[in-house]
Amino acid sequence: MDRFIIQGGRPLRGTVQISGSKNAALPMMAASLVASGPLQLNQVPDLADVRTLAALLQSLGVESERHAGNIVLNCVDNHSCRADYELVRRMRASICVLGPLLAKRRKAIVSLPGGCNIGHRPIDLHLMGLRALGAQIQIENGYVIASAGRLKGAKISLGGDQGSTVTGTCNVMTAACLATGTTVIDSAACEPEVVDLGNLLIAMGARIEGLGTSQLVIDGVEDLSGATHTVIPDRIEAATLMIAAAITHGEITIENVRADHLTAVSEILGQMGVSMAWGSNDCRITLSGPLQPVECQAVPYPGFPTDVQAQLTALLCLTFGQSTVTDKVFPSRFMHVSELLRMGANIRRDGDSAFISGVTSLSGAHVMASDLRASAALVLAALAARGETVIHRIYHLDRGYEQLELKLQSLGASVERSPDTVA
Ligand code: EPZ
Repeated sequence: MDRFIIQGGRPLRGTVQISGSKNAALPMMAASLVASGPLQLNQVPDLADVRTLAALLQSLGVESERHAGNIVLNCVDNHSCRADYELVRRMRASICVLGPLLAKRRKAIVSLPGGCNIGHRPIDLHLMGLRALGAQIQIENGYVIASAGRLKGAKISLGGDQGSTVTGTCNVMTAACLATGTTVIDSAACEPEVVDLGNLLIAMGARIEGLGTSQLVIDGVEDLSGATHTVIPDRIEAATLMIAAAITHGEITIENVRADHLTAVSEILGQMGVSMAWGSNDCRITLSGPLQPVECQAVPYPGFPTDVQAQLTALLCLTFGQSTVTDKVFPSRFMHVSELLRMGANIRRDGDSAFISGVTSLSGAHVMASDLRASAALVLAALAARGETVIHRIYHLDRGYEQLELKLQSLGASVERSPDTVA
């Protein structure tokens, strides 16, 4: 296991490229299971989660080859329908193979993903949607065991208590593409990653209308072909680096970024006094004055993303005044709070909210990464803290940020990776 050693207090300066989106790439890779020909995905980040899914797909007969930023996936054997616990437990997004396997191979045996540090993460909506398409599903010995004849179009609502489901929409949308007749999905997730998957499926021959809205209408087709598609830029990585510029009082330009995917993030950062100059494909971020406190709620897209909640909390720790951050998507996603407190932050957690009183400085400490975005929040806090911060269990960060330390180093940060002695 590796750790990061960060010397804080250096303003970031320079230009950095945003990678392709992890959360768009994963369900697209799973869509190789329904493709009758090779699928070429461009701008796929080289991350632990992508490698885990490639290994899972290989166990399901899909070969993948990476050439620089591109991956070509080719299904050569469609015998196996079983996604084993050993691979699925490493990454919850493995559940994205469920819908494609069921639609194409008519059978899926997929390990239940299990617990997670960001809170309770059921898959009842995925199962409800697939059952509505005609699947028989049971849970046995920790596995989802699903079978079906050809799936049949149906009217389905995928809304839950916390709103829509992103990977649930991906699973049901992909499966419905090969069903007979028309499927209408209400309360569909509108996230750009779902839209990007839908665009890939359309390039493969699917007939989908309503992408980016809460109602999807899908007319099933007999077969889906291979295709070539470029994955959208990672809006969460972009937001993390925007906050890195602000928290270090730096001035950076991020390239390969979509302003339309970051409206809610820009709105909150703008309210806080962060200046953003958007170009067609880039954004220059500077701080024009003292940071202002805000009240922010993480909700499904197009609202403020839960995946940026922890990073925003880190910034608010150094924002004079009282701020509130509420997470309506994952109400217990606050593992970063106790580690930020160890760095001198003043945060009170109550239910789905964190109440933050800004402090004038944070100080370096040993802290433990607990999940992907909590790790990013600790990196941001460390970049601004006085002295040295050691972040343990950095493998969480490696799951979702491509070469983060190299990108930060290129912007002038002092970030060093070294093997960890703490388990
Ligand atoms: C996706 O997870 C992302 N993962 C998450 O990214 C992200 O935090 C999340 O969407 C919300 O935006 C991928 O895309 C691979 P959900 P997903 O189903 O699809 C409840 C990151 O850091 N729910 O949209 O698993 C659920 O408990 C991460 O990159 C049900 O009740 O999330 C949650 O409260 C982690 N029943 C809410 O819906 C279900 O069947 C949203 O979850 C499914 C979900």
